[in-house]
Parts: sequence; structure tokens; C-alpha cells
Amino acid sequence: MGASVLKLRFYGDPILRRRANEARAFDDALRDVADAMLATMEHEEGVGLAAPQVGLDLRLLVALAMKEPGDEEAEPVVIVNPEVLARSRDSWVYEEGCLSIPGVRGDVTRPERITLRYHDVDGAEHTLEAEGMFARILQHEIDHLDGKLFIDYLSTADKTLIKPKLRAIAKLNHE
Ligand code: CO
Repeated sequence: MGASVLKLRFYGDPILRRRANEARAFDDALRDVADAMLATMEHEEGVGLAAPQVGLDLRLLVALAMKEPGDEEAEPVVIVNPEVLARSRDSWVYEEGCLSIPGVRGDVTRPERITLRYHDVDGAEHTLEAEGMFARILQHEIDHLDGKLFIDYLSTADKTLIKPKLRAIAKLNHE
């Protein structure tokens, strides 16, 4: 039997604006959460998912280690308690979306490369250098752990344009 698919939280849910807490116990419960998040990311056809997006107050994310946009071979990774150690000066623009803000996309500038320290689901510490698409996905998901959303980076004009859409999305939380 596969892991269960979790219900998504959408823009307007307060959990998406809070700083999530560190994971402390690397136990079966944490492994179950990670498995369910991987199953949910696959089901929703996402490239990344952070715990607050499924209503969990936990610094945990899953992401596809994509070499470029649309990379079909990308392996999923589970990242617990990430800490960004370094960001490159060079940055690039890409049109992002988010499972918690369906139907909204917008250009976001982010550093090209990041260095990350994190724990795996068994509690072992790792350091990772990511670039390009994978680095972007990780930054987007880490933002979720800090209550930040990609729409926060949009221009004032773009923010005004998406306002009606955001109001409609917020209603999805009550369905
Ligand atoms: Co997102």
C-alpha cells in the first residue's frame, strides 16, 4: 500500500504565513510524514512541497533534484531543518508557480546557486551545493518554512493583477 495523499492548504490559510518549527525527533512518525509528502507531491505533479502546505508545522520539504525545467529523470529528495549557508551573487529569473496558489504564475529572481546544510529523514547531517532549477526549487520551498510565498517577490503591477485570483483561491480552504 502506498503512502496516503495529504490535503493541500491554499493561499489565505494562516499556516502558510508562519515560521515552521524544527523537526526534533527523527523517528517513524517523521518518516511517515516524508513518505506522505512525497506521495502528495507526485499526486499533485509538483516539483516541490513544504510541510506547511499540507498543514504541518515542521521544517521539512520534499523536492525534485531537477537539472533543468521539465527534467523527467529528477530524483526526489527529503530535506529536514535546512539552513542556507551561502547564496551566489548571480541570479536568474524564472516564472514560478505554487501548489498552494493554483493558476497563478509570476517571474521571480533568485540566486543561481546555494549551499545548504540539512538533515535527512534519519537525522544524518549533509551539505549540498545546488544550482539552477534545483537551487530554485529549494529556495522556494525553504521560503515556505519561513512563511514566505513566491508572490511576495512579484512587482507591484503583477501583485495588483493577481489580486482577484488570490481572493478566489483563499475560498478553496473552506471547500
Ligand atoms: Co510553493
